[in-house]
Amino acid sequence: MTNSKEYKRVTVKSLVEMKSNKEKIAMLTAYDYTMAKIVDGAGVDVILVGDSASNVMAGHETTLPITLDQMIYHASSVVRGIDRALVVVDLPFGTYQSDSKEALRSAIRIMKESGGHAVKLEGGKEIKDSIKKILNAGIPVMGHLGLTPQSIYKFGTYTVRAKDEEEAEKLISDAKLLERLGCFAVVLEKIPAQLAEKVAKSLSIPVIGIGAGNGVDGQVLVLHDMVGMTNEFNPRFLRRYMNLFESMTLSIGQYVSDVKASDFPSKEEQY
Ligand code: KIV
Repeated sequence: MTNSKEYKRVTVKSLVEMKSNKEKIAMLTAYDYTMAKIVDGAGVDVILVGDSASNVMAGHETTLPITLDQMIYHASSVVRGIDRALVVVDLPFGTYQSDSKEALRSAIRIMKESGGHAVKLEGGKEIKDSIKKILNAGIPVMGHLGLTPQSIYKFGTYTVRAKDEEEAEKLISDAKLLERLGCFAVVLEKIPAQLAEKVAKSLSIPVIGIGAGNGVDGQVLVLHDMVGMTNEFNPRFLRRYMNLFESMTLSIGQYVSDVKASDFPSKEEQY
């Protein structure tokens, strides 16, 4: 089954049902109203207001600088554009790691001020108390393991994670912990496909992969990468469905020529 519109509104419960019905989950990022409307209308099940907005929208090198206020701005714009998708919002770096009360305050701000439906946090055992506190307040939590970009300065590079046994074991035990705590889904980023499949098979909650192979319950990509709006980021896992960078550059170049040549606007395009 693809792009099932069976669910008028996707909820955290529908995602778990999709997994048990073996229907794959399609997730994409969006950061603004116009894009969210397109992504939602095309049948994407989950829209992630990712902290990748820090890179894609603001041009930062990492996801670390984006603030809670900025995430709320992006998320509230996305929420206004959707009818069907579940909107998950990243808690940005520094808003949930230091203590669980701060984590809860951050998650509450996201839910109250943006209208998003769930939050996503990076990490396992280390942030267990924060996850528990947020879940206890009735806020759905999506986990994120493997390559966790908020820890880039600890990793040093964006290469594939959990290739060695020790890290793979920790990832498996973190994924099981996230399920036990009550997370409704987990993202696995840039890890070996075999390991991701093993995790997906051992959990009853959906596992959504990015660079984690095809043996998981769904896929997520950054919208601007999959439509080819960005052209500098070329990981192996990325499938570009369009080359918007090229078509936009050509169209804008044509507009510039038309204006310079006094060809735009024409008689039909004026009052
Ligand atoms: O911020 C983001 O876009 C993400 C995805 C890469 C999963 O976390």
